[in-house]
Amino acid sequence: MTTILAIETSCDETAVAIVKKRQVLSSIVTSQIATHRRYGGVVPEVASRQHLELTNEAIERAFEESGLTWADIDGIAATCAPGLVGALLVGLTAAKTLALVRQKPFLGVHHLEGHIYASYLTDPNLEPPFLCLLVSGGHTSLIHVKACGVYETLGQTRDDAAGEAFDKVARLLGLGYPGGPEIDRVARAGNAFAFPLPEGKVKLPNGGFHPYDSSFSGLKTAVLRLVQTLKADSEELPVADLAASFQDTVARALTKRAIQCAIDINLSTLVIGGGVAANSSLRQYLQDAATEHQLNVLLPPLKYCTDNAATIGCAASEHLSRGRISPMTLGVQSRMPVSEALSLYTA
Ligand code: KG4
Ligand code: ZN
Repeated sequence: MTTILAIETSCDETAVAIVKKRQVLSSIVTSQIATHRRYGGVVPEVASRQHLELTNEAIERAFEESGLTWADIDGIAATCAPGLVGALLVGLTAAKTLALVRQKPFLGVHHLEGHIYASYLTDPNLEPPFLCLLVSGGHTSLIHVKACGVYETLGQTRDDAAGEAFDKVARLLGLGYPGGPEIDRVARAGNAFAFPLPEGKVKLPNGGFHPYDSSFSGLKTAVLRLVQTLKADSEELPVADLAASFQDTVARALTKRAIQCAIDINLSTLVIGGGVAANSSLRQYLQDAATEHQLNVLLPPLKYCTDNAATIGCAASEHLSRGRISPMTLGVQSRMPVSEALSLYTA
């Protein structure tokens, strides 16, 4: 009762997967990065048009790869929020249409829930409660996962998301788009302690600092000033050292807050999700800190950290197995807190 055809088109990946509970039977991800690279970022209208061109073929390939037929599918899911409205509409309309034609249950899925469920695909025995550090192009959150669909956000960014900071700093350093993987690659040859940078603490009215919130705009400005000063001295920009120092600062700050939060609320399992969870320095810091504090840390494979439909299908499968389906009137939303994920279902 839980084999799902899932579609994810919230940003610049056209992805379709077939998932049976926590088992991925096929996962097709067609990245549009090459198209958007020349603009230095995602162009929403271009993304929507590409999703239109790529979705049907991705569905066919997902069936071919899995060896399944429509008779094997129990439900059809698509990401419905948050994301680019035009892009989301393509996947959601495809899923609703197929659900009507094939007479199958339809489920809308919250995009961040997909990132959380990357960990369910990684460890089939994982069960709530646990803490999720969700770091993507649009979000930087510490989420207490209490049950399927029940989430409490305990920390978030006050300005830029972690991935956004990686992308902006990469641009400052003359690196390509998307910036995260580029910084990660270049930083390997750099000295992480070359340039001390501010870790982006969030001040509280009482003079202290928020234990779990982040702010990356000050860090981004610090890198900008450094680049300007180095350029004014007509030095050749030490790109590797700058990339490594920036990456190390972000990875250390995120790790510190996540570990502190897990300890404070007495959770022994910490998982990560979102594109920035692919970052090698962050993974290393988390692994080391988990060992030090005797926490269980789950690092999903890179293919389930960045956007894909397998994680969306896994989330939908858990909801459908609890009898939850979405109404055909469900629309898309550019913003939606993950705490509202359950409002997408009628039962
Ligand atoms: O989760 P995701 O694929 O899409 C969103 O939902 O936003 O995340 C994309 C973000 C981009 O900002 C990208 O630069 C970043 O994840 N990213 C990385 C790495 N791989 C992707 N950031 C740091 N290190 C990486 N290895
Ligand atoms: Zn994402």
